[in-house]
Amino acid sequence: MNRMEGRRVVITGAAANIGAATAELLAREGAHVVIGDIDPNAEATAVRIRQNGGRADFRATDVSDGASMSQLLRSAAEWMGGIDVIINNAGVQRSSPITEMSESDWDLHMSINARSCFLAAKHGVPYLVQGSSPAIVNMASVGGFKAPAGLAGYSASKGAIIAFTRTLAAELGPRGIRVNCVAPGWVDTPFNDPIVSHMGGREAQDAAVRAGVPLGRQGRSEEIAEAFLYLASPASSFVTGHALVVDGGAS
Ligand SMILES: NC(=O)c1ccc[n+]([C@@H]2O[C@H](COP(=O)([O-])OP(=O)(O)OC[C@H]3O[C@@H](n4cnc5c(N)ncnc54)[C@H](O)[C@@H]3O)[C@@H](O)[C@H]2O)c1
Repeated sequence: MNRMEGRRVVITGAAANIGAATAELLAREGAHVVIGDIDPNAEATAVRIRQNGGRADFRATDVSDGASMSQLLRSAAEWMGGIDVIINNAGVQRSSPITEMSESDWDLHMSINARSCFLAAKHGVPYLVQGSSPAIVNMASVGGFKAPAGLAGYSASKGAIIAFTRTLAAELGPRGIRVNCVAPGWVDTPFNDPIVSHMGGREAQDAAVRAGVPLGRQGRSEEIAEAFLYLASPASSFVTGHALVVDGGAS
């Protein structure tokens, strides 16, 4: 299949797990990919894509920093000859009761999870308007609707992303740019270690998954990648302002 043939994609947070699975799936579908991540290990994702015959490159990027995001998008547009899709996947999670939550942890959620989406749009739209079937896909979470106790800061940042996505879709629709987000439930990655620890460990999480997820298991990174593929490809050409929930029925 060539569902992303020739499409020029910038994706953040693709060192491993959901971001890497998404970058690799899109590349297999014919996309050219530039990965922005603060973790230099994300270079390995680009190397794997190239080894498999795809086209990918890595740029060291802090998504919470305006100058860094602006530089990522400028250099990606130069390297690929433009940008058609921006996927804002980078994120962090901290967990604590609200009275113990540090101000810096609150700010960290807001700047890395939510501010990054604003920065990508602010600096990316001038490229997208010249792109083909342009799209922004943000990484939200079902936690943006309601998360377990101990995740109030994370939840607030993901809720902000959902509101931002819907509002930006209204603003950019007339310019031909679609804006959507993916809202996964439990996905089995180390990203959830803070909340799993807060819940009492892996057994407590397994019990919560058995009780709360009709499909009875956590999602896999590759299953979330499929949602990004749909929203990034022209297959979703009449979909905008949507939060695509991928949670095994939990919500
Ligand atoms: N795992 C889950 O259950 C789950 C559920 C819903 C949503 N999500 C979201 O999926 C995304 C990816 O999560 P994951 O589970 O693959 O974990 P992950 O830790 O592998 O992914 C996070 C990525 O963001 C990068 N990153 C962090 N801070 C950054 C910064 N300042 N600048 C640039 N890159 C930065 C990390 O290096 C990493 O590559 C996150 O946004 C997360 O909120 C995860």
